[in-house]
Amino acid sequence: MPYTEPILPPHSVHETAAGARTATRRGLLMCRPSHFDVHYSINPWMHPDKPVDTELALAQWENLRALYEELGHTVEVIEPLAGLPDMVFAANGATVVDGKVLGARFRHAERTAEGPAYLDWFRGRGFTELLWPEYINEGEGDYLLAGRRLLAGTGFRTDPRSHAEAQEFFGVPVTGLTLVDPEFYHLDTALAVLSDTEVMYYPAAFTPGSRAVLRELYPDAILATDADAAVFGLNAFSDGRNVLLPQAATHLIDELRDRGFAPRGVDLSELLKAGGSVKCCTLELRDAA
Ligand code: ARG
Repeated sequence: MPYTEPILPPHSVHETAAGARTATRRGLLMCRPSHFDVHYSINPWMHPDKPVDTELALAQWENLRALYEELGHTVEVIEPLAGLPDMVFAANGATVVDGKVLGARFRHAERTAEGPAYLDWFRGRGFTELLWPEYINEGEGDYLLAGRRLLAGTGFRTDPRSHAEAQEFFGVPVTGLTLVDPEFYHLDTALAVLSDTEVMYYPAAFTPGSRAVLRELYPDAILATDADAAVFGLNAFSDGRNVLLPQAATHLIDELRDRGFAPRGVDLSELLKAGGSVKCCTLELRDAA
């Protein structure tokens, strides 16, 4: 079944009639945190001296995976590799639009081996349009598809020259957004796409120019508070109806409910020790249109 099929559980029939939101089925790639740990620091959340409970990380990750499946999504997994503790953050492994796969090229030496590992998975899975990039880009950490527009982060990880490379490869308009706060080092830590036309974001994470662009594109966006951002509340996944996000982001959860979404709070406290949460663990496999 194509991943764009609406998911209509029996009870949603009258909800749809009442104007409620409709989820669409997604194909997702995840990586079990079997080798997860924090033994280097490449963002301000990572403290190698703080203990990490890998068993708890695994249990929290399994919950997230189970929730996706319960909601009707298809989850595929890539084999985690020893020595790559951040490989659990599948969002960074590539960007996939219309079945085309833009490989990821990492900024830090600690993660560079993940790029080819993810690209190999796509090759093995039968994707044929693959591009090994010329410029550094950290996959869906910095590339978020909103409708037919690719929102593209830069400032910490992804090279701004990658934005033109992505636009040429995918043939969709790319809108660059510049991040300024090291705690929100990837676009997916500062902004989440909720539907083709709606986003939520944390204004303070962006330059004044990028904030102006966001206001122009999304005048009605949900704006995260400092407290939402501090618990990584923007690192969320939406299927158009269900929004999975860190459970501590209580203000965002209320706002989402007010706007007719079904927010689902998730606890990924162990993964937050590496500066990651729901969206970081999730890479979307978008079929050819
Ligand atoms: N420790 C990882 C890093 O700093 C976390 C990556 C989180 N992923 C994300 N999509 N934001 O690279």
